[in-house]
Amino acid sequence: MELQGQSRISRFKEEAYRGILEMSLRLSLGPRGSFAKFPYWGIETNCGSGENEKSKCDGSPIEFLKVMTLNNRHYHAIFCDKDGAKLRALYQRIISMGCPVDPDTITLLEMDNSHMFSRVRSKIESTETLRHAVGSVFCDSNGPSPKTGFALEAVAEFSSRCPKIDVIINVNVTGIHRALGVKDERPRYQKFRDKISKWPAKSLDEVISCIRRPKEGWLIREPLFTRGGTSGYMYVLLVARSIATKGSSILKLHPLMSAKGLEILEEARRRKPE
Ligand SMILES: C[S@@+](CC[C@H](N)C(=O)[O-])C[C@H]1O[C@@H](n2cnc3c(N)ncnc32)[C@H](O)[C@@H]1O
Repeated sequence: MELQGQSRISRFKEEAYRGILEMSLRLSLGPRGSFAKFPYWGIETNCGSGENEKSKCDGSPIEFLKVMTLNNRHYHAIFCDKDGAKLRALYQRIISMGCPVDPDTITLLEMDNSHMFSRVRSKIESTETLRHAVGSVFCDSNGPSPKTGFALEAVAEFSSRCPKIDVIINVNVTGIHRALGVKDERPRYQKFRDKISKWPAKSLDEVISCIRRPKEGWLIREPLFTRGGTSGYMYVLLVARSIATKGSSILKLHPLMSAKGLEILEEARRRKPE
């Protein structure tokens, strides 16, 4: 099994994901807890094996299950990865936590995540209406190319049908800006230009405009860098909701349209390709 493209910062990503899930879970309960009887749908593209060996921490699906269990929330998780070995390792981890892998609680899908959403939709529709379903979809590819499983278009299409499902995206901003490095029009760069033309987004702004949620519904997290200080690859976590919500100083999460949010966006725009 390949390592899942992790680094020393994976631990901080998981901490942020856990905090974002807790926020999302509280919101999903609705006024006076009136939606608590409905499941929280936890959907993850690029779910991985449930462990980040380099950073020695749990992976996102395990974080998800821990948050649901601690909060005693009724959930339905759908985890997808194209790597069967990672899913088998995840299955073992889930079993050892005592969580049930059955079609009504946890579904593991071994497939390209751009194809998973038709399965997700029919699962949700078998019990409730898509537009009322609550939960989150986490999109966590290592890079921006379709080869790394950056399923932006599929997530955008799904999220437009499910306005109450939060979209959480981890974006490799430095990787994305490689596209900006290919402005050179000489023929020898043609191959690279062809490849990049297939990327679903070539900037953080394009990622944001692809998911059709109101600007006030977006939160942006202070960036993480794969090396010390502000060197290495820059990763930015985004959360898209249909309604405006407050940020969190503990989670370093800011409304996109706040002064700090716009500053982060500007910093990402200036980020040079490696
Ligand atoms: C950064 S890792 C995921 C880490 C995981 N979300 C976590 O936080 O523990 C990226 C994962 O994407 C998976 N992947 C890459 N391309 C994919 C695709 N087209 N469809 C589904 N999964 C893909 C890889 O197998 C790898 O497990």
